[in-house]
Amino acid sequence: MSAYHVPPAQGAIKLDAMENPYTWPDELRRLWLAELERVEVNRYPSATADVLKQVMRESLDIPEGVALMLGNGSDELIQVLALALGGADRIFLAPEPSFVMYRQISRVVDTEFVGVPLAWPDFSLDRESMLAAVQSHQPALIFIAWPNNPTGNLFAEELLLEIIKEAPGLVVIDEAYHAFSGTSFAGHLGEFDNLLVMRTLSKSGLAGLRLGYLMGQEDWLSELEKVRLPYNINSLTQKTAEFILRHPDLLEEQAAQIRSDREQLFADMQALDGITVWPSAANFLLFRTEGKPAIEIFEGLGKQSVLIKNMHGSHPQLRDCLRVTVGSEDENAKFLESLKRLL
Ligand SMILES: Cc1ncc(COP(=O)(O)O)c(C=O)c1O
Repeated sequence: MSAYHVPPAQGAIKLDAMENPYTWPDELRRLWLAELERVEVNRYPSATADVLKQVMRESLDIPEGVALMLGNGSDELIQVLALALGGADRIFLAPEPSFVMYRQISRVVDTEFVGVPLAWPDFSLDRESMLAAVQSHQPALIFIAWPNNPTGNLFAEELLLEIIKEAPGLVVIDEAYHAFSGTSFAGHLGEFDNLLVMRTLSKSGLAGLRLGYLMGQEDWLSELEKVRLPYNINSLTQKTAEFILRHPDLLEEQAAQIRSDREQLFADMQALDGITVWPSAANFLLFRTEGKPAIEIFEGLGKQSVLIKNMHGSHPQLRDCLRVTVGSEDENAKFLESLKRLL
């Protein structure tokens, strides 16, 4: 295996990791720091994070009656799920290309991973092959990123419902990009006993906190709690998330700005010769270079201090593909200008 590689980004326009480019107004930062001042870091954090969970229920769109579990990023929740459900005789399944950690963590817990190729060229779910794979592999766990990373699209809701009905095990709908898609499976949680919905606050402005959450029936989450390490959500994260979620308008305004900038960037990229760009319901765009190898464009952007993500080589369907995060208006303009020059 190779470890997850994070390239250095010192001094670059950082458009490689789906971060929100915006910070907080000075006044809000002052109020936040005043709260942090009172945190007792000599003590362990709240093990149950009850106050934070209550604030999350009040400010995020979490249906009544569903149980909540918090993770140190949703990466940790994927690991918890894999530890709880994996094993030598088990199979995990996800469409591919998708979020790489599903496959990576499956390997770490020594569980066979089946990737079902998406349809070409629109990266939709291939109904026949997906249902056939569920039938033949009987996976203990299915991950579906909705919208999908790195393709940015939303799979058909009806087909996901069909898969949940067919699945013999647990289905996790990963809504990491929920803030940008305007869609959610959370409303379906009461209908199925094998469905969990996972989200993260990383993409909507809090990547540095590492806070993900899993929603679902108490029966499932109380089993998964046995695998979660105690105190996984540190005191500074708990306090900061409590604080900023009491001002939810700020994060929503930033997400709205990113959604609108995504559409502008998509239109601007569509107008360029030499690339094909796919529409996206997330805060990034996937594109393919047509005349030149993607690596040439990727490295050329790097030389101009614009860091995006090279997807070429990570999956056959991502040949010559690059992924760019929607940044601030200024960052997007610099990226476009550099891209045009290179093309
Ligand atoms: C689909 C998907 N799920 C989960 C994650 C991990 O997010 P977190 O920062 O909460 O670990 C990502 C990050 O890129 C992602 O794309």
